[in-house]
Amino acid sequence: MFDKRLMQVCPESKKYIVGNIILQWLELCMNAIMVLIIAVTVSDLYNGNLEPFNIGFPIILIALTIVVRFFTARGSTRMSYLASKTVKQKMREMIYGKLLKFGSKYREQVTTAELVQESVEGVDQLESYFGMYVPQFFYAFIAPITLFFLFGFGGSWATATVLLVCVPLIPGAIMMVQKIAKKLLSKYWGQYAQLGSAFLENLQGMTTLKTYQADGYKNQQMNEESENFRFVTMKVLTMQINSIIIMDFFAYGGAALGILMATRDFVKGNLGLANCIFMILLSAEFFLPMRRLGSYFHVTMNSMAASDKIFKFLKLDEPAEKTENCTSGNIQLDNVHFAYNESREILHGISMNIPEKSFVGIVGESGCGKSTVASLLMGRNTINSGELTIGGKNIADVTEESLMKTLTYISHNSTFFKGSVRDNLMLAKPNASDFDLWAVLDRCNLSAFLKSENGLDTVLLENAGNLSGGQKQRLALARAILHDSPVYIFDEATSNIDVESEEIILSEIRRLAKNKTIIMISHRLANVADADNIYCLESGNIAESSTHNELLKNNGAYAKLWRTQAELENFGKEAAV
Ligand SMILES: Nc1ncnc2c1ncn2[C@@H]1O[C@H](COP(=O)(O)OP(=O)(O)O)[C@@H](O)[C@H]1O
Ligand SMILES: [Mg+2]
Repeated sequence: MFDKRLMQVCPESKKYIVGNIILQWLELCMNAIMVLIIAVTVSDLYNGNLEPFNIGFPIILIALTIVVRFFTARGSTRMSYLASKTVKQKMREMIYGKLLKFGSKYREQVTTAELVQESVEGVDQLESYFGMYVPQFFYAFIAPITLFFLFGFGGSWATATVLLVCVPLIPGAIMMVQKIAKKLLSKYWGQYAQLGSAFLENLQGMTTLKTYQADGYKNQQMNEESENFRFVTMKVLTMQINSIIIMDFFAYGGAALGILMATRDFVKGNLGLANCIFMILLSAEFFLPMRRLGSYFHVTMNSMAASDKIFKFLKLDEPAEKTENCTSGNIQLDNVHFAYNESREILHGISMNIPEKSFVGIVGESGCGKSTVASLLMGRNTINSGELTIGGKNIADVTEESLMKTLTYISHNSTFFKGSVRDNLMLAKPNASDFDLWAVLDRCNLSAFLKSENGLDTVLLENAGNLSGGQKQRLALARAILHDSPVYIFDEATSNIDVESEEIILSEIRRLAKNKTIIMISHRLANVADADNIYCLESGNIAESSTHNELLKNNGAYAKLWRTQAELENFGKEAAV
């Protein structure tokens, strides 16, 4: 019924929970006082001890209790808000902190959609736990005990005892359904996350789905998933309603019993009229807090299921604290094995030696593992065995920050953010002057275009949607040059762009190569022909490595690829003529 982990997360919230309980208890006391005044007044009126025109004073007293109750009720709502706010903030900080510890490797552990859902919706769900359930949990015990003494001293200990004994029937009923509820809600939450993640994916891929007219199919798939979700939701609701019926039976049955006993005592003459009215009016209060706990319990079960997921994420083994800083130097891969998932190894023991300031090409057919090598170098994935060192430092010990300062990765699809060209460039060098920015834009042949627009303040749409493919890649290169790191990895950085842009980018890469380490991944062999060394990969193995001329002489895998590409290009040229 209680999750210790959640309470430990945020001890600060305890004071608000205690405050909430105290205020609720004060509210109960005010309620009791008000009922007492009503009971005594009615009794006095009935017995002729009070003239009807004298009821002004009791009415003022009643009004006073109502005013105090208004403030206690407001106070407890405020406490409930503060408790959940503190916890939500803390929980989000923890998730974020954990995420930072994983760095760019987080995708090895969770999907982005799952993470978004956990940290937004999942954390929001905790509100009901801290704001409602926990305070109610204590109040539901305190309230009947308070009333027990009020009933005992003010009327009949027998009735007080019977009512108190009946109260635990409600939590008993809750416990009975808890087992079923837990299973059902875990399924519900799982289904919910799945539906959310499918929705996000389909929305992002809408253009593709439309292109292949697969949106109808996906629609149908989502409909089926929503149907499953509807089904499990209905099951949850049925379970909740059934358990509420049971709880109501005990709550109102118990209250009725109290009323009957009080009335019987009054009829027998063992109880005064005022005491009888007092007990009749307050009987239900014995059970209502517990009954409310029952309904909160259902709401909170949902947040428990969500918090289980969050704790699962928070408990994941963190990568060991890294202390080494890498700078530049040789990059060495020694018998590196790597698999994204256990069932299929992608790299089968590759070794590379990339000397500082050399220009190295990595080529091979699509899917042979080129980008995977880049992803290992960028620390996005961890090697399974072998050794990967940068400047003599094992990559496993190197801080992400120093790694990111050492290497710059430029893919064929660089990310830009909504904002100005300046904002996007300054990501790479926050203290860059306008002069620095124009210098790199000049190098990448973007100055003329940007000057015709709004200069450095030219606005980029989401992912630079208002630039052409070639312009976008040249801007990516400009940003990369600004970063001024000792090592650059170009992963198909010139694929799918116009020839002019490609020429500009390639010549800039050659210029960079004079004093930087360049790793150029390309399926077009001509782009790496002048590299100091070329590694030719073949399904996760290094088939051969040497210079372009040597590799042609060897007449191996590289030479074969070269001939195929040359033929294709000649064919293209002939076709164009
Ligand atoms: N994130 C991933 N999860 C699982 N498998 C992957 C992932 N990325 C790539 N692969 C697989 O690894 C192999 C090598 O991919 P990659 O290194 O991207 O090839 P390429 O040489 O074309 O860059 C491919 O068979 C691909 O299916
Ligand atoms: Mg690739």
